[in-house]
Amino acid sequence: MPGTQWWETDDSINELSELASTAGAEVIVKLVQRRGKPDPAYYIGRGKAEELAVLAITTHADLIIFDDELSPAQQRNLESLLKTKVVDRTWLILDIFASRAASKEGKIQVELAQLCYLLPRLVGKGTSLSRLGGGIGTRGPGETKLEVDRRRIRRRISILRKELEEIAKRRGLQRSNRSKSGLPLVSIVGYTNAGKSTLFNALTDSQVFVEDKLFATLDPTIRRCYLPSGGFVLLADTVGFIRKLPHDLIAAFRATLEEATYSDFLLHVVDASHPGKDDHCEAVEEVLKTLGIADKPILTCLNKIDLIPGSLERERIRLDHPGAIPVSAETREGLDELLLTISRMLGDGNLSRSRKAFGSIRVTTTGDSYEQNKASDSGADNSRTGRRDISFGGVDLAGKPPVALAPMAGVTDQAYRLIAKEMGCALVYTEMISDKALVYGNERTESMLRISDTERPIAVQLFGSDPKIMAHAAKITQELASPDIIDINMGCPTLKIVRNGEGAALMRDVPLARDIVESVVSTVNVPVTVKMRMGWSRELKNAVELARAVEAAGASLVTVHGRTREQFYSGSADWDIIKDVKEAVSIPVIGNGDIRSPQDAKRMLVETGCDGVMIGRAALGNPWLIRDIVIFLSTGTVPAPPTYEERAALALRHLDMLIQLVGEQAAVLKMRKHAAWYVRGIPGAASARIRINASKTRDEMARALKVAFLDPLC
Ligand code: GTP
Repeated sequence: MPGTQWWETDDSINELSELASTAGAEVIVKLVQRRGKPDPAYYIGRGKAEELAVLAITTHADLIIFDDELSPAQQRNLESLLKTKVVDRTWLILDIFASRAASKEGKIQVELAQLCYLLPRLVGKGTSLSRLGGGIGTRGPGETKLEVDRRRIRRRISILRKELEEIAKRRGLQRSNRSKSGLPLVSIVGYTNAGKSTLFNALTDSQVFVEDKLFATLDPTIRRCYLPSGGFVLLADTVGFIRKLPHDLIAAFRATLEEATYSDFLLHVVDASHPGKDDHCEAVEEVLKTLGIADKPILTCLNKIDLIPGSLERERIRLDHPGAIPVSAETREGLDELLLTISRMLGDGNLSRSRKAFGSIRVTTTGDSYEQNKASDSGADNSRTGRRDISFGGVDLAGKPPVALAPMAGVTDQAYRLIAKEMGCALVYTEMISDKALVYGNERTESMLRISDTERPIAVQLFGSDPKIMAHAAKITQELASPDIIDINMGCPTLKIVRNGEGAALMRDVPLARDIVESVVSTVNVPVTVKMRMGWSRELKNAVELARAVEAAGASLVTVHGRTREQFYSGSADWDIIKDVKEAVSIPVIGNGDIRSPQDAKRMLVETGCDGVMIGRAALGNPWLIRDIVIFLSTGTVPAPPTYEERAALALRHLDMLIQLVGEQAAVLKMRKHAAWYVRGIPGAASARIRINASKTRDEMARALKVAFLDPLC
């Protein structure tokens, strides 16, 4: 066509050949015609079309591919003249996408794009479409669907659009979780085969599918990329761009491509060794314009620099692309400079302030965030006063004394968590939740994910032993509950858990524990933390080893209980191991075990240097312990213990909250154990417990509590 240079045509035809072989076709012959404009009936001239018909017969071609989008009429006319299946560049790309689509989302998007493309081309189809063309044009919706009438296709299109809306909503939710976490997102964009996935893998230590074929990547993947500063960003690998990327495809893939829309900036990967790199850059810009994101900050990296011979040639390329970073994803050359530039760009004032503290796992020990600890030695540093602020992966406990409530099965339901929050607890955990039960869609388990905003920040704790199932469960958790943290249980000692290789059993299998963390970290966008024990047994006290391993796998925080699994809850907790773990890792460490008083909490912080304390069984029936610790760490004074009236009132409120949650009958049953804990230590506790355990209704339970606290001699 006028204005097109011969080498552009050449490039485009060569690329079409590559696309064809990616789709599984063998290219026998290429034909080019110079024309002023496309012929409305045949795209090429009638004479050329007849020449092509002869060529098709002599070469036994069973498919003819045009390097542009044909109108429905052109395609029909060509097929009837050539007596051979005719597809165009658009359909070829759609076909490759159909063969690459692995996820449900990818498949829906491709099918939608294919059906939108096919709908206006249905007239007169039938025999010609049912012929095979090296498999091309037969994937995705396939011929059987093409034979159905337009109405059915329209109906299908409308169903797919609805599904896509759902996907867009889900992605929106994930994005809002991500943005809540304050993590910056950088999307890799670039021409197909530029090396995006290879670079993505090199920067994130991942294993995304890489192939020397076009459009190897279809589903966007997001992973952490650690920066030299110690922080990290989320890096998204996106679908490759290409010249003449079909409009239907861009429209259908909008939900996927939108990841790039919401990025802080784009990392444009260019294959510097490709002769057509400038055209590729233009094509990428075109697509970015179509997506409305051409004005986003872009960092260009010139990939495959290892294929550029000689330093002179490299220098020339560098001068041609000022500001671009030459790298080789394959040999890792230039990656340090690239990471430093990413760091600098994120630290740049042009980016929003809220995103500047991005994902940095930061542990500050400041004395300013909450009141001066009056009990501390005057002028003592924080390591001695026990004052800490914890901030990691966007979860910021700064300003609150670092007191967490342990995940406790049958205890830390929403009612108890809300009470803990009222007492000033900085971080609460759900009861531990089975990964398999979530994946199988167990309703009762899903109900454990009910979270209210008052409880935030909150960690949902999952247990399991299979990295894939854990990752799947974590994804479900993120979608259903949007927790601030996902915690992985590696400490539960009970037999029914450890015999399945779950809970504390993971302490015996550090590689598996590491895989689980890695798999969950790479699936969700919230910080992933781990709760572990000191070890499995007296012989295997490996909390330090496990903590290091999970840190390397991407965990943002670890909590260490100072007992082995063998000990269950007997004996005393060994805080030395908490100190050892704290010294061994750079992520925040929460200490757990034997904190029964505010003084214990402070001692734990001071003696181990840990960043926070976790209260477990000592808070059963005594949520005031949380309040006391919080106040003691803030002011150095311990408040007066709650009166019997206050205890009765809170126990009753606890009961009512449970009724709200699970209904009267179940609430009363649940409350029996809580009530027994609430009455611990009061005169007549034994007979109170008999009344409590006999209660079947709210009134009976309320009476039992009232009698216990206010009229113990009744
Ligand atoms: P699409 O999924 O098609 O968009 O491709 P992509 O941009 O993700 O490219 P991918 O990472 O799949 O790499 C394409 C080919 O280029 C593979 O064969 C890689 O091994 C190769 N490649 C990537 N980076 C480099 C590099 O720095 N040097 C060399 N020599 N080859 C590279």
